[in-house]
Amino acid sequence: MSFRSQIIGCGSYLPERILTNDALAHTLDTSDQWIVGRTGIKQRHIAAEDELTSGLALKAAKDALNHAGVSPGEIDLIVLATTTPDETFPSTATKVQALLGMTRGAAFDVQAVCSGFIYALSIADNFIKAGQAQTVLVIGAETFSRILDWQDRSTCVLFGDGSGAVVVRAAKWEENETKAKGIISTHLHSDGRYGDLLHTDGGPSSTQTVGKVRMAGKEVFRHAVINLAAVVREALEANDLDIADIDWLVPHQANKRILDGTAKKLGIEPERVVVTVDRHANTSAASIPLALDDAVKDGRILPGHLILMEAMGGGMTWGSALVRW
Ligand code: ACO
Repeated sequence: MSFRSQIIGCGSYLPERILTNDALAHTLDTSDQWIVGRTGIKQRHIAAEDELTSGLALKAAKDALNHAGVSPGEIDLIVLATTTPDETFPSTATKVQALLGMTRGAAFDVQAVCSGFIYALSIADNFIKAGQAQTVLVIGAETFSRILDWQDRSTCVLFGDGSGAVVVRAAKWEENETKAKGIISTHLHSDGRYGDLLHTDGGPSSTQTVGKVRMAGKEVFRHAVINLAAVVREALEANDLDIADIDWLVPHQANKRILDGTAKKLGIEPERVVVTVDRHANTSAASIPLALDDAVKDGRILPGHLILMEAMGGGMTWGSALVRW
């Protein structure tokens, strides 16, 4: 008998304000046609001036806790993935802990940019398997709009704000239970040699400013399709599965062309890929839990389904999580 992590609830939140491509084209030399054609993005949500990452995270967290039927007092650990913390410190996770009224347990942030949610989920899974936590709140939350250069049309059109969360809980598991609900595997990777391809041109230690997003788009695109297809194959091989066994691929929502390119390389039909990039754009660490919540709440993802999540982001970082829902 050992322990396995089960995702027992999910939630999400999107800021009210929607910024369409047409509205962007009023202030930027771009067009709806160019953005949709190159990225599949039609709109993005933008946080209100008084909305912080912790506020977005709190709303997704409450939604997930409600879905799971878990109270804040039952949480042992909050792992929050973000690239846009409220401040340099304290961590946004500890701010959410206070906002939830939690006075016990531990909370910390994880920084792996767009792969952040996969990293956070993997950490939660390992804490649970090690017996160090029973119930973990995993959050991906971003106000990415705050670190964009709104004059740089090659980056600012790609991103949006939002948050998503899951509640993960320890469950007893017999090793021979092949179809048991829970996190089956996670795989994480990074290669710091490629950090310059996608980075901010500032930070507390280097410039004492937050900095803005800078990206070598074509290079990032190339790395994304190669690494994402590889990490999916790695997860399948590690679990002796075929792509046909996967009910839903829930990818990080970077760009429709990256999603299509990866799906084609893997031979998975577009109907089995959850896509929200058209409505949400790239919300970095929030994109996977937002997409997951979308497909769970509209009834596409059902108990027993096999779900493969994958992401790639700045660092470079990439990874996967295979889950039986
Ligand atoms: N509107 C209109 N024209 C634009 C825009 C825009 N928003 N942005 C760039 N252009 C222009 C360029 O200036 C260039 O013009 P030029 O030929 O006169 O110089 C032309 O369009 C082509 O530019 P490219 O950069 O070559 O365009 P490309 O086909 O590579 O598409 C894109 C750019 C969409 C950024 C693409 O490279 C891409 O998707 N890269 C992946 C980036 C990504 O998704 N990053 C997210 C973070 S990483 C992750 O999440 C996995």
